[in-house]
Amino acid sequence: MGSRAIGIGLAGVGGIGHVHAANLAAGVPGARLARVADSSASALRRIGQLYEVPSSRFYGDLLDDPRVDAVVIATPPATHPEMVQLATAAGKHVFCEKPLALDIESAEAGLSAAKRAGVVLQVGFHRRFDADYMLAKSLIARGELGRIYGFFDSMRDMEPPLSAEMSGAQQALLHDAACHDLDAARWLVGEVDEITTFGANLASEPLRAVGQVDHAITVLRFENGSLGTIDNTLASGYGFDCKCEIVGSEGTVRIDNPYLSNVELLTRRTSGFERTRTFLDRFEHAYPRELESFVDAVHRRAEVAVSGEDGLAAVVLATAAQRSLETNRSVRLRRRLCEGQVRYAMDEQ
Ligand SMILES: NC(=O)c1ccc[n+]([C@@H]2O[C@H](COP(=O)([O-])OP(=O)(O)OC[C@H]3O[C@@H](n4cnc5c(N)ncnc54)[C@H](O)[C@@H]3O)[C@@H](O)[C@H]2O)c1
Repeated sequence: MGSRAIGIGLAGVGGIGHVHAANLAAGVPGARLARVADSSASALRRIGQLYEVPSSRFYGDLLDDPRVDAVVIATPPATHPEMVQLATAAGKHVFCEKPLALDIESAEAGLSAAKRAGVVLQVGFHRRFDADYMLAKSLIARGELGRIYGFFDSMRDMEPPLSAEMSGAQQALLHDAACHDLDAARWLVGEVDEITTFGANLASEPLRAVGQVDHAITVLRFENGSLGTIDNTLASGYGFDCKCEIVGSEGTVRIDNPYLSNVELLTRRTSGFERTRTFLDRFEHAYPRELESFVDAVHRRAEVAVSGEDGLAAVVLATAAQRSLETNRSVRLRRRLCEGQVRYAMDEQ
């Protein structure tokens, strides 16, 4: 591929697709936005008002375009497996938004297809590119925390989607949201041996009608003996809240939500700083970095920072969490090494 800028074809220009389009248009070194595709004509109209880029409603047009070397898949989760398959068959490198798939078999198939085609596959776990999480990771890797005892992680959305369709995925809370936390758990603490999840529908009538939960608490037992909890809600009511604490024998790291500014508002009744309200302002700087890292890996044919195996592991862990929730039992996990990479499977019970 040499030093030529790679052409990126962006599939899906809804919420996160707009973020990727803006970052690509602003300039990711070594890449340019070559084409977009979205099945919605209105989504294409909106993007066309912002950027001059060839577009169409058909994903196949992205893949047929010789200017497209790599695709960024930012469509709903259920579409990811087929899109990954088609892209790899066309010899395109793939950056796939999380989750890689909603079931284990499809995630494995995507991974195998990328390997067969010899293309780069990265999954969109942006926390790994956030400066705070990266600092925590390096402190842990340097041994500053000593032996890790506990992982206490929380991700809360402000309000549930207005309709079940808008949640974009069945089992959305665990597969689509908690997958970030499950990936962070593996990345920061280590591999997971056992998972137990409790869930409840407490806030959303549309999600209740289709049997989905909007609250979940997941308990993890790690291979290294440490314990963890993850709490997820779609109905915090006060904003997006993503924080993480890792407790060790020699130290603890706590990653909180940053303030939007250093300006404190003080009134007769209260005082406070304004906090980041959405995942977009909390992780604003991580999104361009994950694309830069992907593009760099494509140019150098190097390993990606968040691999297809990481994407598959998150799918297995989310599936295990969902099974635990549905059966009221803990789910144990098995692992094996496959070409030097960890592969998870659920213990059949
Ligand atoms: N990493 C993150 O922080 C983050 C944040 C939000 C969403 N996501 C993930 O990104 C993906 C998209 O989420 P979103 O919130 O942007 O969804 P969205 O519904 O806002 O946008 C999806 C877009 O894809 C288009 N689309 C649907 N099917 C298509 C097809 N077959 N071909 C072409 N276009 C198609 C839709 O018209 C829509 O414009 C999901 O997997 C989601 O989990 C990741």
